[in-house]
Amino acid sequence: MKVKNIVLLGCGGFIGSHLLDRLLADGGYNVVGWDFSADKIAGHLDNPKFRFYQSDAFSEGTAADLDNAVKHSDVVISLAAICNPSRYNTEAIATINSNFTEVQKLAEVCAKYKTWMIHASTCEVYGRTMASYLPDNSYDNPALYEQIEDETPLIMGPIQNQRWSYACAKQLSERLLHAYHVEQHMPITMFRPYNFFGPRMDFIPGRTGDGVPRVLACFVTALLDGTPMKLVDGGHARRALLYIDDAVDALERMLQMPQAAQNQTFNLGARQNEISIRDLAVMMRNAYADVSGNPAYRSHPIIEVSGLDFYGKGYEDCDRRVPNVAKARRLLGWEAKYGLEETINYTVRYFYDEFGRESAAAE
Ligand SMILES: NC(=O)c1ccc[n+]([C@@H]2O[C@H](COP(=O)([O-])OP(=O)(O)OC[C@H]3O[C@@H](n4cnc5c(N)ncnc54)[C@H](O)[C@@H]3O)[C@@H](O)[C@H]2O)c1
Repeated sequence: MKVKNIVLLGCGGFIGSHLLDRLLADGGYNVVGWDFSADKIAGHLDNPKFRFYQSDAFSEGTAADLDNAVKHSDVVISLAAICNPSRYNTEAIATINSNFTEVQKLAEVCAKYKTWMIHASTCEVYGRTMASYLPDNSYDNPALYEQIEDETPLIMGPIQNQRWSYACAKQLSERLLHAYHVEQHMPITMFRPYNFFGPRMDFIPGRTGDGVPRVLACFVTALLDGTPMKLVDGGHARRALLYIDDAVDALERMLQMPQAAQNQTFNLGARQNEISIRDLAVMMRNAYADVSGNPAYRSHPIIEVSGLDFYGKGYEDCDRRVPNVAKARRLLGWEAKYGLEETINYTVRYFYDEFGRESAAAE
């Protein structure tokens, strides 16, 4: 099968907008997309190879259009979701609906036409590592923290800690899609992103959106506004960052190699880019000092706040996420190319050019 016609749900988001850039630059794909927002994809709205619905992809009003688009597509890429940690414990019902109930609706349509569904899950399905429940030196043993798609147990915290609503809904979606594949022969691919990082991620509160974005945009906002960068629970949690171009490469390879990609779950991450959130704050303020030419940013204030104060009741963090990407390497020939410094520097430069340069000039 050669993929030509694509339905892309969440095409106006961070991953979706970068993927759309790549698909339309290729010229060989026709894309039908849905999103609430067109802000990040405004440059594509007149492209004849792109049909955009600016609406809820799962509302009753759009069901017939979605059905028709899925019917005529080779693949549906499902990226539309609430995926912001600040909402997991305060809007758990919406989070579960978005990450499970709506996925179920989409899966029903894909199953009806046996259309291949590529679904964005999350590395959060692994929950916390086994090492985090064992004595201190457990992190010396990779078997207790390294995450392998078809082997590693998925460990969620208690129900009252509503922060797990997202991870649990994503996990159930994975189980549902797997069942659709086994029982109804619907082709599926699931991928688990590990902290994709790059330009256009989220929004800058007060400038391009409201609320609390993910950590990258929180730190950028602090640098732009001259407020402290806040480390939740000491910033000890570690994350492995993957530059968005690497992530899009992996998705493009799936589209080019359906045989290899179908009916698999892939970790997409860069274990060599692992960093604590504390060190990330330091690297980001240094990168901002370099790009702005203002060395004062090297000592931009960094403070500690509790998870309770920052996210509210029911928050709990995943301690560490170390992806094993052997499967993506073996089946897709994919591996991350961007290192940590490039990932952070390119991203900070984008946000400075987009928002910081003007603020600096105004001052
Ligand atoms: N970025 C990451 O590092 C990361 C990590 C883990 C999982 N993921 C998953 O990848 C997917 C995309 O993530 P992202 O970082 O691009 O998020 P994002 O918030 O930037 O993009 C999601 C987009 O979906 C849209 N959307 C949500 N519900 C919709 C609906 N009902 N109808 C139409 N549009 C809708 C939003 O408007 C948004 O533009 C999500 O499923 C997320 O859970 C991302």
